[in-house]
Amino acid sequence: MSDNTAAPIEAPKPFTVTLNIRRYNPEFDAEPYWQSFDVEMYSTDRVLDALHRIKWDQDGSLAFRRSCAHGICGSDAMRINGRNRLACKTLVKDLDVTKPIYVEAIKGLPLEKDLIVDMEPFFNAYREVQPFLQASSKPEKERLQSVKDRERFDDTTKCILCAACTTSCPVFWTDGQYFGPAAIVNAHRFIFDSRDEASQVRLDILNDKEGVWRCRTTFNCTEACPRGIEVTKAIAEVKQAMIRGRR
Ligand code: SF4
Ligand code: FES
Repeated sequence: MSDNTAAPIEAPKPFTVTLNIRRYNPEFDAEPYWQSFDVEMYSTDRVLDALHRIKWDQDGSLAFRRSCAHGICGSDAMRINGRNRLACKTLVKDLDVTKPIYVEAIKGLPLEKDLIVDMEPFFNAYREVQPFLQASSKPEKERLQSVKDRERFDDTTKCILCAACTTSCPVFWTDGQYFGPAAIVNAHRFIFDSRDEASQVRLDILNDKEGVWRCRTTFNCTEACPRGIEVTKAIAEVKQAMIRGRR
């Protein structure tokens, strides 16, 4: 007779992680400072779960943005151990938990409180590239497009406007005037859309001194993108379209 006794399932074991968080409250602090928190975590927890635990159990004044908690809304980009990532897509166990985990706001945008920055300059640059379809024709049904033409801009449709790319770019850090990778990615999405008639307008906008020519091809943006978009390649394609004089 076979032994049907199943081995007991071991309950997952928690472990303690130290998070060093860059705090700043403009009402009280002259400068940002680091504050340390110890949190009990499980191997399935993400950095966002750690922030929730701190906010709910230890310090309700901790400020950060998040909405979907599943890598879709793009609201929780932050610097985790010096790299731009989404807190909701970063498993704590994938970091070195023998050392403190450093969490701070993304760089290059005005700091508002703790991990929250003012996103308005980022969205201003996005709006400036006219990220919407412009077509004069009025078809009775949908605007048809071949599979090949759709593939041309497939990669850049994946952007969730998290700003991880733009705020990892050293050119953007220097003066904040550069349009930045995310705006160029979203311009690319329409410049190479065969149904759109305003690609030349966007190419002219990005031919500006604060446009694509500021890119120094450091690839920080591509490494930072949580959606795996080939950001530097998209910027290079926009540059090539400018040199050709057409998309
Ligand atoms: S290109 Fe990637 S990193 Fe940049 S805003 Fe879009 S999703 Fe975020
Ligand atoms: S909370 Fe929406 S992407 Fe992380």
